[in-house]
Amino acid sequence: MVNPRIVAIFGATGTQGSAVIDGLLQDGTFSVRAITRNPEGSAAKALQDRGVEVVKGDLEEPASLIPALEGSECVYAVTLPYFNKTSEYEMGKNVVDASKAVGVKFFVWSSLPSASKLSKGKYTQVHHFDQKAAVDGYLATSGVPFATVQTGYYLENAWRLKNLIKTESGYEMRVAVFPPNVPQVFTWVAKDLGPAVTALMTQYNTRPEDIMSQNFVVATARISYQQLADTYSKGLGVPVKLVSLPTTGRQPVDDMLKMESEFGIFNEVQTFPDPKLVKLGVRLEPFENFTEVVKTRL
Ligand SMILES: NC(=O)c1ccc[n+]([C@@H]2O[C@H](COP(=O)([O-])OP(=O)(O)OC[C@H]3O[C@@H](n4cnc5c(N)ncnc54)[C@H](OP(=O)(O)O)[C@@H]3O)[C@@H](O)[C@H]2O)c1
Repeated sequence: MVNPRIVAIFGATGTQGSAVIDGLLQDGTFSVRAITRNPEGSAAKALQDRGVEVVKGDLEEPASLIPALEGSECVYAVTLPYFNKTSEYEMGKNVVDASKAVGVKFFVWSSLPSASKLSKGKYTQVHHFDQKAAVDGYLATSGVPFATVQTGYYLENAWRLKNLIKTESGYEMRVAVFPPNVPQVFTWVAKDLGPAVTALMTQYNTRPEDIMSQNFVVATARISYQQLADTYSKGLGVPVKLVSLPTTGRQPVDDMLKMESEFGIFNEVQTFPDPKLVKLGVRLEPFENFTEVVKTRL
């Protein structure tokens, strides 16, 4: 029998959405509906093979979102910066409006803090932070019950952005802009985002005081890149040489890294995992264990 409790997931074929789907499928409380622009693609077919309903929807096309969300109890939404014609704020607004129109009961928005605010006006071009934060404000006045999650710098960027390269003697960790000994906040998306979002969705109606309108930072560690390189080196048994680069080649990303290193990020969370997630029973994977993934992936 089909489970009538449906969670609709945006970014289902991407890093965040896949992690959320893994968490929800493992838990089993909900049926999962993946929303994609390309339901005929191989990523969508792979989801169907796992029992996920696949529905066409495009965050840039508001009219596509109502039928895509119809009947869903919860929504997980993440937007992609810079690659669409529409701004992240507009896309976020589109999905909030559609969620309201179909009566979604709980909306989880993948957000980031405002870089302009965090840097006290020094960095105003980090649009992928500021626009997500602006959607938080829109959500707060929308009447849609919601929580936000924020992720740190992905450990998965090791291969996504080729931050970690295998060499003849070991590995090279390429770190652009960010000073090697300043703490950064890291997230193991594939391991940790699923359990965190699943905890919010399975408990939003029983523990609203701990969840509604709250922000949850899903991150496993606040450590420097040098500490991360040393951890990999220890686990892999080979040298991991840190190489500093002057730029990522993309100004908003350079500004983001400067902003994070100068002002800190997620400063409201003293220790990771975020105690608010721990209170909901979420257990995150120690970042040291990511070394095992590096061994097999790279
Ligand atoms: N990289 C990091 O370290 C980091 C850290 C914190 C936050 N973030 C944030 O994470 C977000 C990216 O998430 P991700 O890593 O999961 O991305 P990803 O792996 O690149 O996947 C992007 C997803 O977005 C979907 N998508 C793109 N445009 C869409 C549209 N117009 N309508 C509907 N779906 C659309 C794609 O779905 P289809 O192609 O199937 O339609 C795909 O599933 C960014 O906003 C970034 O700022 C990244």
